[in-house]
Amino acid sequence: MDISIFGLGYVGAVSLACLARDGHTVIGVDIEPAKLDLIRRGRTPVVEEGMVELMEMAVASGRVGVTDDVRAALLASEVSLVCVGTPSAPNGSQDQSAMLRLTQQLGEALKDKPAPHDVVFRSTLVPGTVEDVLRPIVERASGKQDGVDFHLCFQPEFLREGSSIRDYDNPPFTVVGANAAVPVEKLRQLFGHLPCEFYATSIRSAEMVKYCCNNFHALKITFANETARLCEALGVDAFEVMDLVCKDRQLNISPVYLKPGFAFGGSCLPKDLRATMHLAKQRDVELPMHAGIMASNRQHIEHAIEKIMASGKRRVGMIGLSFKTGTDDLRESPLVLLAEHCIGKGLAVLVYDPEVHLSNLLGANRRFIEQHVPHLGQLMRRDIAEVIAACDLLVVGLNDAATVATLRQHARPDQLVLDLVGIGGPDGMRAECMGLCW
Ligand SMILES: NC(=O)c1ccc[n+]([C@@H]2O[C@H](COP(=O)([O-])OP(=O)(O)OC[C@H]3O[C@@H](n4cnc5c(N)ncnc54)[C@H](O)[C@@H]3O)[C@@H](O)[C@H]2O)c1
Repeated sequence: MDISIFGLGYVGAVSLACLARDGHTVIGVDIEPAKLDLIRRGRTPVVEEGMVELMEMAVASGRVGVTDDVRAALLASEVSLVCVGTPSAPNGSQDQSAMLRLTQQLGEALKDKPAPHDVVFRSTLVPGTVEDVLRPIVERASGKQDGVDFHLCFQPEFLREGSSIRDYDNPPFTVVGANAAVPVEKLRQLFGHLPCEFYATSIRSAEMVKYCCNNFHALKITFANETARLCEALGVDAFEVMDLVCKDRQLNISPVYLKPGFAFGGSCLPKDLRATMHLAKQRDVELPMHAGIMASNRQHIEHAIEKIMASGKRRVGMIGLSFKTGTDDLRESPLVLLAEHCIGKGLAVLVYDPEVHLSNLLGANRRFIEQHVPHLGQLMRRDIAEVIAACDLLVVGLNDAATVATLRQHARPDQLVLDLVGIGGPDGMRAECMGLCW
C-alpha cells in the first residue's frame, strides 16, 4: 500500500520503518529538515531499541521517501497516518496547533485529489476532536465531504517509548474509530496481521479509549506506589504484597469492578478504606489517591441525586436497596442514601428489593436502616409491578435477569428510568444514563 506519514517523531518514525519493513511504500513528512535528512541517510531520528538497524534496512529497501511537501505526499499515497505531537498547553489543555495547521494543509491537498483517500489520525486527541474540529477544517479546505470523497478515522497508538518496535508488533489490541467500513477494511489490511484483537468502534470512543488507557496506567502506578509508601511505614514488604495482589486474576487483574455503574458501598470497602486512611494518618503517610476514592464515590451518589431532582418527577420507585444484587446487606448501601435523600426532599418513595425482608434484618444491618430510613416498612412492596405502576421515575439498582425482564415488560414509555447498574436501554423505556452502557 502507498502510505504517507505526517510527523516523524517516536510514533511516526517507528511506524514508517515498520510499515516499510512489512513491504509498504511509505513517504514521511516532517517540518524539521534535520529529521528528514537523517532518514534520507538511513538513520533514525529517534533513539529506540532496534531502530538503527530497522531504519537502515527500511531505507535500503527503496520503499521509504521523505519530504516536507504535504501535498506531494498526500497525492502520492492512498492512506495518510497523522502522527504529529499534541503536547500540553500551559493551562493543561491539549495544544492542537500542529494538528490544526497540518489538517488545513491536508484538506487543501485533498481538493486536488480525484481518487478516494483515507486520513487516519494516530496522534492522541481529546474526544470529539476528529468529528467536531478536524472534519470541518478538511471539508472546508477541500470542498469535499467526509464519508463520500474521503474518510477520516482515528486509530489510537499504544506503543511505549523504549520498546516501541516490539510494541508496534505486539500491541494490546487494535482499535479503529470510523464511521464507515472503507477505512476499517484499509486498516485491517495494514494492521490485521498483528497478533491481537481488532476492534472497530465509533471515532469518539476510540479517542476516549486512548485517554482511558493512559489514565488507567497512571492510576495503577500511583496505586502501587502509595501502597508501597504505606507498606514502608508499616515495615511490610511492598513487592511481596503487590506480587500477591497481582496473582489474583479473578477480582484484581480482571474486568471485575471495571464496569461503570453505581457507587460502591456495603460492609467492607468503605470501612476498610477508612481504616487504611487512619493507619496512614497515624504513620504520617500521605495517600492522596486513596483519600480521593471516598470523595469520588460520594460524588457519584450526588450525581444520581442531582439527576433525580432534575427529573422533576415526584414519585420515585427504588428497584433495589441493598448495596448489590443478590444480598440483603443494607449497611452503607448507596441506594439507602439515595432513598433517604429522596424522602428528605419530600418525594413519594416506594421500594422493591426481593432480598430485603425487614423482619429478618438483624444487628448492624437493622441499626443502619433504623438510622437512615426508619419507616422503610411502609415503603417496601413485595410486588415490583406495583412499584412500577405507582411511580414516574424508576431508580434501578438491581440487574438480575428476572428484574430486568419485568422492567422491560411493565415500564411505561412515559416513565423515566435512572439505570444505575447497566441494564441498558430497553425499547420503549426512557432510560437515563448513569455513566454506563449504551
Ligand atoms: N511517544 C509515545 O510513546 C506515544 C505513544 C502513543 C501515542 N503518542 C501520541 O502520538 C503523537 C505523536 O507523539 P510523538 O511522541 O511521536 O511526538 P514527537 O513530538 O516525537 O513527534 C511529533 C513530530 O511531528 C512533527 N510535526 C509537527 N508539526 C508538523 C506538521 N505540520 N507536519 C509534519 N510534521 C509535523 C514534529 O516536527 C515532530 O517530529 C502524540 O499525540 C502522542 O501523544 C505517543
